[in-house]
Amino acid sequence: MADTFTFKLLATDGKARRGEISMPRGTVRTPAFMPVGTGGTVKAMYMDQVRDVGADIILGNTYHLMLRPGAERVARLGGLHDFARWPHPILTDSGGFQVMSLAQLRKLNENGVTFRSHIDGAPYEMSPERSIEIQGLLDSDIQMQLDECVALPAKEKDIERAMEMSLRWAERCKTAFGEQPGKAMFGIVQGGDNAKLRVRSATALSAMGLKGYAVGGLAVGEPQPVMLDMLDITCPELPAEKPRYLMGVGTPDDILKSVARGIDMFDCVMPTRAGRHGLAYTRRGKVNLRNARHTDDPRPLDEESDCPAARDYSRAYLHHLVKSQEALGAMLLTWNNLSYYQRLMQDIRDAIEAGQFTERAAAITEGWARGDL
Ligand code: GUN
Repeated sequence: MADTFTFKLLATDGKARRGEISMPRGTVRTPAFMPVGTGGTVKAMYMDQVRDVGADIILGNTYHLMLRPGAERVARLGGLHDFARWPHPILTDSGGFQVMSLAQLRKLNENGVTFRSHIDGAPYEMSPERSIEIQGLLDSDIQMQLDECVALPAKEKDIERAMEMSLRWAERCKTAFGEQPGKAMFGIVQGGDNAKLRVRSATALSAMGLKGYAVGGLAVGEPQPVMLDMLDITCPELPAEKPRYLMGVGTPDDILKSVARGIDMFDCVMPTRAGRHGLAYTRRGKVNLRNARHTDDPRPLDEESDCPAARDYSRAYLHHLVKSQEALGAMLLTWNNLSYYQRLMQDIRDAIEAGQFTERAAAITEGWARGDL
């Protein structure tokens, strides 16, 4: 039977790609930005709003959901899509990355990782097989292999050991995932800031014939030029006919520069987290609503935006909400920021289709440089 998980390249412009990932729960227009819905919620947003700003897919986290409310419980309640009322595609991260940044008493070996919950200290074990089992219980559409990501800077031998183990874990995840028409398991390229190790990781994963490939281990402390060099080296080693996902990235500028190098998918907490901290993304750069200069400003963030949060509320009111730590401040700014990110992705997709990606990227960048309205 033909697989119902497919990736179609619709247009290219230089290395930038415009595509479509289709699966039973929907189609993801690429380049795509996935809002982060860590624990079954995109913080401060209704799912209807997440959809309305233009998101085709959201990201969920194995680590958070296995601790609370528990993967078996989510499965009993009908899976993550029903539980969270998001009927569209969901990609889940595998857990290793979050264990390393959040959990206590972590121990990692060939079989997987043991740790204690950051919530109540309860002990857990996660192997590559258990990560895939949990992602299956959640009913995730795109599941990620368990991997080990090292923070940079790191020694070459440490980067190499983690990368080689991640390759072995990719094989184990592939076996555990098996054949699941309509769903996918993506491998994750590791290799730190080392060109040779990146090539080794990307070629070995490509040979596994997976349905998609992520680039991991970036935006973990290295300067942006190093990240872009790694993309320049890695993307040509990945099969052109499969989607490429850059994990945990990034700023609007990171996204433009990564699309230019052949990346199709992104996720990042930046727009949602910044929104909860009083920061607004606009076509004229970032605006800090905590700043006293907004106290008496009756103008909206951007009257030309099609997002009500940007268009219909005064800066004075947004400033007041943020200063008073009102929930509505976080809600409006998150709405504005996700709307800005999705608008950016739509502009990128349109520009690639029109063969004008470079010019459009330059114009967008110039808008940020001109500064606030
Ligand atoms: N999120 C951001 N970077 C990474 C990574 O390297 N691996 C995983 N699993 N998730 C990530």
